[in-house]
Amino acid sequence: MKVVSHALYAEDDGLVCPEVGGWAEGKYRLLALYDELFSTGMKNKWDQRVYIDLYSGAGYGRCQGTKTVLKGSPILALTVPNPFDKYIFCEESPELMAALKARVGRIAPAASVTFVPGSCDSAIDEICAAIPKGSSSNKVLSLCLVDPFDFGIKFETLRRLSVVFIDFVVLLAIGMDANRNYAHYVDGQSTKIDEALGNTHWRERWKAAGAKRKDFRRFLAQEFSMSMASLNYLQKPLDRMKLVRSVDKNLPLYYLGLFSRSEMAFKFWDDVLKYSTDQLSLGL
Ligand SMILES: C[S@@+](CC[C@H](N)C(=O)[O-])C[C@H]1O[C@@H](n2cnc3c(N)ncnc32)[C@H](O)[C@@H]1O
Repeated sequence: MKVVSHALYAEDDGLVCPEVGGWAEGKYRLLALYDELFSTGMKNKWDQRVYIDLYSGAGYGRCQGTKTVLKGSPILALTVPNPFDKYIFCEESPELMAALKARVGRIAPAASVTFVPGSCDSAIDEICAAIPKGSSSNKVLSLCLVDPFDFGIKFETLRRLSVVFIDFVVLLAIGMDANRNYAHYVDGQSTKIDEALGNTHWRERWKAAGAKRKDFRRFLAQEFSMSMASLNYLQKPLDRMKLVRSVDKNLPLYYLGLFSRSEMAFKFWDDVLKYSTDQLSLGL
């Protein structure tokens, strides 16, 4: 499939524009490409394609220490060459949600969008209700982006969504979080990882593995994959996730992974991974 190169950049429009790290540009390039492959590739195979952003942000972000404004994940998804039939954007911050609404109204006034204010975990009923009902004569496929700041995902929220035909692109922001809060997570009282993985047995598996602290990040990514496999998502080796590092210190920040029940989605994903590796080797 021929891929149109994306305009990732935007003009400052005076609305709220949260700072994003230097690594975010790579993330957006990857997401934009996957959105495009998915929305175009599935156009004639499904009656309706739905895009869901659980942690939408304001629609634009400013690259740290620069004046460069980058389009955020909801705007990238709205501006693919073959737009999705329906969009659902959830955002907890009222201020960011207001900016997002204004940008969506200006950039894609004709798009069918449901805005869900509040936490995606508390508002999961509303999010599920906004997905068009599928049937044999109206096949609906959703793509859901899960992009929190830290490992604050609640597996239960994904489980609730997983009852429909839905693929997930998930940022497992465990690089810094897992390292910084290691003792708190492993021996402490924190239930954060239990909630992200949807179980408490990971602690026993981690202890039984006798692995070193530096392997905790990989362990959590594998555990998350296993949790998704319990919902019948295909389990792939860890190298099919993209490990994103910080620009300045080259520290691991997060894994970006695809979770799908279809091999076809992984064909698109492999194209995206290859493209991002090629970009890196070209120094772009
Ligand atoms: C990393 S940013 C995501 C930005 C966006 N996906 C992008 O790439 O342009 C995370 C966003 O999630 C919001 N947020 C945090 N917790 C949330 C929750 N439980 N439900 C919905 N939004 C949440 C934050 O206010 C923030 O705007």
